[in-house]
Amino acid sequence: AMIEKGNYRHYMQKEIFEQPQVIGDALATYLDPATRRPRLPEGGPDWAAVPRLTIVACGTSSYAALVAKYWFEQIARLPVEVDIASEFRYREAPMPKGGVALFISQSGETADTLAALRYAKDENQFIVALVNVPESSMAREADLVLPILAGPEIGVASTKAFTCQLTVLMCLVLAVARSRGTIDAAEEARLCAALSEVPARALEVLNHDEKIRAIALWLAEARDVLYLGRGAIFPIALEGALKLKEISYIHAEGYAAGELKHGPIALIDEAVPVIVLAPHGPLFEKTVSNMQEVLARGGRVVLLSDTAGIETEGRNAAEIIELPMVDAFVTPVLYAIPVQLLAYHTAVAKGTDVDQPRNLAKSVTVE
Ligand code: G6P
Repeated sequence: AMIEKGNYRHYMQKEIFEQPQVIGDALATYLDPATRRPRLPEGGPDWAAVPRLTIVACGTSSYAALVAKYWFEQIARLPVEVDIASEFRYREAPMPKGGVALFISQSGETADTLAALRYAKDENQFIVALVNVPESSMAREADLVLPILAGPEIGVASTKAFTCQLTVLMCLVLAVARSRGTIDAAEEARLCAALSEVPARALEVLNHDEKIRAIALWLAEARDVLYLGRGAIFPIALEGALKLKEISYIHAEGYAAGELKHGPIALIDEAVPVIVLAPHGPLFEKTVSNMQEVLARGGRVVLLSDTAGIETEGRNAAEIIELPMVDAFVTPVLYAIPVQLLAYHTAVAKGTDVDQPRNLAKSVTVE
């Protein structure tokens, strides 16, 4: 069926605004309604016996993989390797006996990711496909399929598929942590409660649309933009930069904030906006000290933090986007939304073709 844009100007905008709904749909499937604990389809591996998880993907999906690495390692104490499919498929990596390989793909058809899946299958890995299209090639060839339930995504730049990937990955991590005995009941209940709140918090984040549009008006004048983050938010900095490049054609880079001094700080001057993603929490002070280094060199900072973060350090930033106070576990999915909106409004301000950016395809089924 033809999918309508409704009151939205672009499919991408519609898909950004659908996120509270589709994240809720994913949670309704992956959280048991009675216990609010994650439930996964039957037929998965014995996670307690898995020596290593390998996650492979392309583009935006590869940033979901990178976020998941932080979660699986911290919460489920499971060693994780992440690679982009175009490298992984040719590098002849040895894979451990009893290992699990997870392939993340909106389309389930990306040629490099599919080839990587076949390689892992030859290496006798248990194959899990996290896809949006349940009839896709990857779904057919996997041992276990985890549909992300985002609904059809039309905009070439992925938005709701990314946050649904993260949502299903959070459920998977909690289920894996339980079967590996690395999480106690109280902690699991606390994280599940944070997870259940994500749709409501995502709706609050979307309320910043007007403010973000105003910021995008000056972002549209920039030639280069830097995005900084740490920990599980670092991949969101990468995703923010990718989104901006894809649809506004402005050069952007995402960096781990701690790596700033090893190169990118040389780029900083009044003309380079720096988007700092810094939810309060154990890494907040570290990220803020990197932000101070940027400010000391005349950089114009857009700080994305929450009430607690902003009270401490917000006064020095040029612009502040105040996001809801949530558990650190769920911040990647919530901080993904403002960076999508920043890219969207910047592209609209520049007058580019938001839904069909030049040179890009929705699904890359050739090498
Ligand atoms: C293309 C799209 C991206 C997407 C990537 C991976 O480059 O433009 O939005 O992230 O492919 O696609 P997949 O379907 O495998 O997630």
